[in-house]
This record gives sequence, C-alpha cells and structure tokens, in this order.
Amino acid sequence: MRKDGWWIVPTLTFLGFSAFIVYSTWAAFQGEHYRFGPYLSPFYSPELLGSATAWFGPKPAWFPTWMPFTAALLILWAPGGFRFTCYYYRGAYYKAFWADPPACAVGEPRNGYRGERKFPLVLQNVHRYFLYLALIFILVLTYDALQAMWFADASGVRHFGIGVGTIVMVINVCLLGSYTFGCHSLRHLIGGRCDEISKRPTQFAAYKCVSGLNRRHMLFAWLSLFWVGFTDIYVRLCSMGVLHDIRIF
Ligand code: FES
Repeated sequence: MRKDGWWIVPTLTFLGFSAFIVYSTWAAFQGEHYRFGPYLSPFYSPELLGSATAWFGPKPAWFPTWMPFTAALLILWAPGGFRFTCYYYRGAYYKAFWADPPACAVGEPRNGYRGERKFPLVLQNVHRYFLYLALIFILVLTYDALQAMWFADASGVRHFGIGVGTIVMVINVCLLGSYTFGCHSLRHLIGGRCDEISKRPTQFAAYKCVSGLNRRHMLFAWLSLFWVGFTDIYVRLCSMGVLHDIRIF
C-alpha cells in the first residue's frame, strides 16, 4: 500500500552491487595488468604470490594447473568477507537481493522469519574477525599509496613524485580507511563495552572518532566500493596503454 518510491533504493542497491561483483570477479581472474610502475591495484594487494615482485615470489611449480590462480584470488576473500558481513551491507542486500523485506512496511514473499540467530545467517557474526583482517589491509594499502610516490628512472633509481595514479591510490586508502574505521564492530571494540567511557579521555576521543565515521558508514561503504573498483580500472588502463598517467611533479 506504500505509494512512494520505496523500490528505488533496493533497485539501485541491486544494480550497484551486481556491477561491482561482476567487475571485481572478472578483474580478479585476469591475473595481469594489475601493476603499472609504482602503482599496484588494490584487488591484488598484498601480492603474496604470482610474480617476481610478490612477497613469496612467483607461482610455485607444485600449484595444481587445473586450479585458477591469480594473486587476487589468494587474498580477495578477506576484504570480500568483511564487506559481505558488514552490518550496513547486510541491511542493504537483504532488502535488495532477497526482499527480506524489500523496504520498511512492505510485505515480503515468505511467511517464516528466521533472522540471524540460526544457520546460515548466524555465520554473519564472523564480521568482527574479518575486521581484524581488514585493519591489516588498511596498513598494506597505506604502504602501497606511499610506494606510489616513488618512480623509477631509466637506470632504476627511484625518485619522489606525484602522478594522477598516486592521488587515485591515496584517495582509495582514505575512503577504505573511513569505511573500516567506522565499522560497528570496531566501535564496540573501542568503547561499546565500557559503562562510563567519558572517564577515559583517550578511549573517549577514539570512540568519538569512530562514532563520527560510523554515522556516515553507508556513505563510505559506497564511496570506497566505487573507488576501489575505479583504482583497479585506472591501474589496468594505464598498464594496457589505454590511459597515460600524468606526472604532476
Ligand atoms: Fe560495516 Fe563493520 S559494520 S564494516
């Protein structure tokens, strides 16, 4: 009986998520064009295995040839799991993908309600553990953004510089950091267990920072999702020679 456009947000959510899932899956299986100069696509970072510059070297000879292998497939489960179990995303994709319910005060196409206290959705509680991994990824991506400021000359000596790609990568880590540090689980970890947090100044200050980001969690969820995909596209197109990365200095 709702007469307003309640279906617009779930539809946009469905389209946005679907586009990201299709693109990121395609990019993760490519296994090439993920590095350009000092730029490394966030889908492939940290590059644990797969090339001479990877942390543990090239793909090992014993790796089964029938199994798909790229550096992205080794690591993407962690940020993917973090997003999939995020409190905001759960609310969004329950509505958009399986109409549970599609919007407030709109009927759903089922009678029973199982909630998140039973299998399989009870597994969403693993989110707090994905948070620990996501925090490590922020450190790694910060390192990548710093590396993106050092360009090798013809003789291999590296010089400080800023390119458009550097800015793209710095914005990427800022947005991902704003999303991760606004996580509900982190907010609980920092101050949620404390009765009188105002009596602990350092903890209170950190709690207020996380709460500020948490209030915009949906915004940063979308901005960081879009920008992480854009960063991969930027590095990919530069590596393919389609785009020319401009050096600002
Ligand atoms: Fe969204 Fe933790 S609740 S990232």
